[in-house]
Amino acid sequence: MQRQDYTGPDDLRALQELVRRTYSVDSRFHVGDLAWEYSSAAPARQAGWRLALWREGNEVFAWGWVEGNDLLMVVDPARPDLATEVLAWFRESTEAESLGCSVLESETHLIEALAADGFRVHEGDPFFTHHTLALTDLSTPVVPAGFTLRPAQLHEVEQRAAVHRAAWSDLQPSKVTAQVMGAVMSTWPYRPELDWVVVAPDGEFVASALIWLDEENQAGLVEPVGCAPAYRRQGLAQAVNLGALHALRDLGGVEARVCPRGDDDYPQARRLYQSIGFQPGLRTVNHRLDL
Ligand SMILES: CC(C)(COP(=O)(O)OP(=O)(O)OC[C@H]1O[C@@H](n2cnc3c(N)ncnc32)[C@H](O)[C@@H]1OP(=O)(O)O)[C@@H](O)C(=O)NCCC(=O)NCCS
Repeated sequence: MQRQDYTGPDDLRALQELVRRTYSVDSRFHVGDLAWEYSSAAPARQAGWRLALWREGNEVFAWGWVEGNDLLMVVDPARPDLATEVLAWFRESTEAESLGCSVLESETHLIEALAADGFRVHEGDPFFTHHTLALTDLSTPVVPAGFTLRPAQLHEVEQRAAVHRAAWSDLQPSKVTAQVMGAVMSTWPYRPELDWVVVAPDGEFVASALIWLDEENQAGLVEPVGCAPAYRRQGLAQAVNLGALHALRDLGGVEARVCPRGDDDYPQARRLYQSIGFQPGLRTVNHRLDL
C-alpha cells in the first residue's frame, strides 16, 4: 500500500472512484459531494488543502482531505486498518492543538479508529443529516405565472453563477464567480440536463438546483439548491428541485440523496427537502482531539 500526496485535479477522479466503489446507505459521501466541494472552492482556498491517497496498484483504498484543523476521510470498509494510517498522516500534517473529524454515524470502522487515537465525540457544532427520496412518485413542479422552469445551458455560466451568489450571500458574500462556476460545470459527473433554474419574467435566474448522478449506483445527489432572497417562499426551490429530480429519473436515477444541516440553528433547508418527500436518515457526528 503506497501513500501518494495529491498532485492536482486529475486525482479528484481517484478520490471519487473510491467513493463510487464503496457507496451505500451507510457511506458518507456521493461522487457529487467531492465534485462540488472541490470545484466550487476558490483557488486560494484550494491552495490551503492537503490531500493524500492510499493505493495498491491502480486501486484506491483510502484518502484524507485536510482543511485547517479538520479531516475528511474515506476508508474502504474492507481495509479498516488504513483509518489508523490516515489519522497518523493527519497528525503529521498539522501543528494545530485541536483536531476535528466528522464522520457518518454508520462508519463504525472510522469511529473505532478515531476512538483508539483519542478522539472524542464533540456535540454542539453543526451537523448534517442524510435525506433520501425514492424517485417513484414525484409531484409535478409548478411555478408562478410568467416564470420558467428549465435546465441551464453551458453558455449561461454568468447567470448560473449569479443566481448561486444571490441565494448564498445571506451570511457572507459567496465567492462563486463565473470562473468558479465554469470549473463546476466542467467537473465529472456534471451534466447540464441535471442543473435546473427558475427564470423570472424579466429573464433573471432566481432559483437553482444542481443534481449529480452516479450512474453505476443509480443515485443522485442534490447539491446545492438556492433561491434569491426576493423570491423566497413562493415554492420556487421546491419547483426547481422537482424539475431536476424528474430529469434525474429520466436519466436512470432510482434514488436521490441530499445532506442538509440537521441541527436546529439552520432548519430551513431540511424543511424544504422534507416538503418534497425526502426522509431523514443517518447523521454526521463530529469528533475532536485536543492535544
Ligand atoms: C432554503 C431555500 C432554498 C428555500 O427556498 P424557497 O424558494 O424560499 O423555498 P420554497 O418556497 O420552495 O419552500 C418550500 C417549503 O420549504 C420550507 N421552507 C422554505 N424556507 C423555509 C424557511 N425559511 N423556514 C422554514 N421552512 C422553510 C417550507 O416547508 C416551505 O413550504 P411553505 O412555504 O408552504 O411553508 C432558500 O431559503 C435559500 O436559498 N437559502 C439559502 C441557501 C440554502 O440554504 N440552500 C439549501 C441548502 S443546499
